[in-house]
Amino acid sequence: MFLMFVFLSFCFTSLAGVFGDEVKSVSVMEGDSLTLNTDTKLQRDDVIDWTYQKTLLTKINKAANKTKIHNDVLDGRFIDRLQMNNQTGDLTITNITTEHNGVYEMTISSTQKICSHRFNVTVYAHLPVPNITRDSSQCSNCSLLCSVLNVRDVSLSWYKGNSLLSSISVSDLNIRLSLSLEVEYQDTNTYRCVLNNTITNQTQHINIKNLCQCSGLTFVHIVVICCVAGGCLIVASVLIFCIYRKHRNTQQHGKCY
Ligand SMILES: *[C@@H]1O[C@H](CO)[C@@H](O)[C@H](O)[C@H]1NC(C)=O
Ligand SMILES: *[C@@H]1O[C@H](CO)[C@@H](O)[C@H](O)[C@H]1NC(C)=O
Ligand SMILES: *[C@@H]1O[C@H](CO)[C@@H](O)[C@H](O)[C@H]1NC(C)=O
Ligand SMILES: *[C@@H]1O[C@H](CO)[C@@H](O)[C@H](O)[C@H]1NC(C)=O
Ligand SMILES: *[C@@H]1O[C@H](CO)[C@@H](O)[C@H](O)[C@H]1NC(C)=O
Ligand SMILES: *[C@@H]1O[C@H](CO)[C@@H](O)[C@H](O)[C@H]1NC(C)=O
Ligand SMILES: *[C@@H]1O[C@H](CO)[C@@H](O)[C@H](O)[C@H]1NC(C)=O
Ligand SMILES: *[C@@H]1O[C@H](CO)[C@@H](O)[C@H](O)[C@H]1NC(C)=O
Repeated sequence: MFLMFVFLSFCFTSLAGVFGDEVKSVSVMEGDSLTLNTDTKLQRDDVIDWTYQKTLLTKINKAANKTKIHNDVLDGRFIDRLQMNNQTGDLTITNITTEHNGVYEMTISSTQKICSHRFNVTVYAHLPVPNITRDSSQCSNCSLLCSVLNVRDVSLSWYKGNSLLSSISVSDLNIRLSLSLEVEYQDTNTYRCVLNNTITNQTQHINIKNLCQCSGLTFVHIVVICCVAGGCLIVASVLIFCIYRKHRNTQQHGKCY
């Protein structure tokens, strides 16, 4: 994907002028190429600087016909990732990663003016597909747990059909994020668990029939076991009683029915 963001110019004709406070927010997916575009017509004597968190990345000096890319700065995180259009001054960051989050500023200066454009870039990592597991601690009800590992700036939600049942949102890095749901064994509705951030989402559907089979003792199991045990007890009692009677009847020449 190739994204371009245009920000209208804020220029000040005097060097003493205060810079615009305007910051353009840009959201982008990890791995994309991002072009920061200011749509400014550059003049013959302009000097264009791009800085990232106050560190100079590129410089174009129109009058001297010189360009320079400092991509070895900041631990080399920009190496082989910066492209500059020296006609327009646009900066392109290819294969962007979350390490490139932050504020980028373009400054265009000449003897007559100084302009500044700021972009607040947020890079979103690809989201994992959430996992759904059965909360095996209880068998009486079918309770399911949807979980994801190592995510930030996301919402995790349960949907029944198209309606939202429950949701949690987190902004900090979460080692393990989970949300539970209780369903009936016979429920035939479709449920799904969705993980999303502002620009993308991942969905996991559930199969109640497969997930809600209880591996432990269910009520039915217990009833069957009790019946079998009870039956055995009765049979045993009858046998003991008969043996006892037979023993007595042998002495009394009687019969056991
Ligand atoms: C600017 O420099 C490039 C080479 O770096 C050259 O090809 C071009 O003709 C120069 N332009 C001007 C206007 O001097
Ligand atoms: C403009 O950039 C290209 C490559 O990015 C470079 O080859 C060319 O010399 C540059 N022109 C000027 C005027 O600096
Ligand atoms: C993009 O960057 C990542 C992380 O630095 C790297 O593993 C991957 O190979 C790069 N992809 C391309 C197409 O350059
Ligand atoms: C940039 O965006 C992030 C996330 O939205 C926010 O936390 C931060 O304060 C913003 N920074 C600036 C300078 O606007
Ligand atoms: C099963 O869940 C339903 C709904 O949450 C609740 O009303 C019921 O009491 C639960 N039954 C058991 C045996 O936990
Ligand atoms: C989700 O399932 C995959 C594969 O079964 C596993 O590697 C991963 O750790 C699981 N994630 C969570 C949050 O349980
Ligand atoms: C997830 O999506 C919902 C709407 O679909 C949105 O309101 C929410 O802000 C998103 N979550 C995050 C963390 O961006
Ligand atoms: C997930 O993203 C798709 C587009 O990729 C969108 O159509 C859908 O509404 C999103 N779902 C949620 C729950 O945000």
